[in-house]
Amino acid sequence: MIEVSNLSKRYGRHLAVKDATFSVEKGEIVGFLGPNGAGKTTTIRMLTGFLPPSSGSASIAGFDIFRQSIEARKRIGYMPENVPLYDDMRVREYLSFRARIKGLSNGDARRRVAHVVDTCGLDAVKRKMIKTLSKGFRQRVGLADALVHQPELLILDEPTNGLDPIQIRQIRELIKHLALNHTVLISSHILSEVEMIANRVIIIDSGKIKAADTPQNLIAEMRAAGRVQCEILAPADEVAAEVSGLPNVKKVTSEDLEEGWVRHTLWSDSGTDTRQSVANVASEKGWPLRSLFRHEATLEDVFVEMTRKD
Ligand SMILES: Nc1ncnc2c1ncn2[C@@H]1O[C@H](COP(=O)(O)OP(=O)(O)OP(=O)(O)O)[C@@H](O)[C@H]1O
Ligand SMILES: [Mg+2]
Repeated sequence: MIEVSNLSKRYGRHLAVKDATFSVEKGEIVGFLGPNGAGKTTTIRMLTGFLPPSSGSASIAGFDIFRQSIEARKRIGYMPENVPLYDDMRVREYLSFRARIKGLSNGDARRRVAHVVDTCGLDAVKRKMIKTLSKGFRQRVGLADALVHQPELLILDEPTNGLDPIQIRQIRELIKHLALNHTVLISSHILSEVEMIANRVIIIDSGKIKAADTPQNLIAEMRAAGRVQCEILAPADEVAAEVSGLPNVKKVTSEDLEEGWVRHTLWSDSGTDTRQSVANVASEKGWPLRSLFRHEATLEDVFVEMTRKD
């Protein structure tokens, strides 16, 4: 559905996107992740035909986004980072106006607007002026706009940015629902959210694509996958010396807690689990052990690891 090859964008001397190549298959829900300034919006603006690339190319459903722009854009529902809405229009009036701009006939526009008002939960506000809407409802209007011409592909640039937790949950449910019959590329800072809805993620950092894989695979490949924490009542150096000799353990850090308890964190290869050996050591030595757990890596750990500047 999306094919990007060797795409670059230069702003003056600054190369904001560097030789990006990736693809998104029909039906996929792909999270597009990266820290502030990584190049997400720049990439998305090139994909949606709003920004010409400095080099490279992109196509949507086989149509080159610049040479066959009209055909390509018909298939894209784009919700920008800051949804530009006409404040002095009413919701339904605005959506009809957008539908007409996108080439729908009067009759089709009427039908599609009624449909997206329903899908996006805008019925209660459809007669209201856009300037009176809360941020959450403005985002919904942005989504309705993106959907009005019945695109196969939705490209959403931080759709939950600036929303409160309840609104975030509502928009997320809406996107999940839309994902049932659309291909979705969604950029977001909220990694737990992406982990919930995306079946694949693309990580971009300083303009470079760093990874493209399922969250599960990325997590499995990560070092932090084998991290075990224990709390033991014994001299810290003795415990550290003992557990750092266990198989697979690469590094041990220790932190004093209250009344002689010490928390040790053991880093090991991904896919290994040192809990049993820690329990054995503690029991052989007669050290009281009050907590032992394996840290499950999250997409956030992967993100931090891949975009670390040190
Ligand atoms: N119009 C522009 N002119 C010059 N530089 C720009 C322009 N737009 C973006 N940049 C720069 O390009 C880089 C990438 O910006 P971009 O907006 O694509 O990042 P982003 O990943 O969307 O960040 P955020 O998470 O903050 O939205 C940044 O260094 C930014 O300052
Ligand atoms: Mg952005």
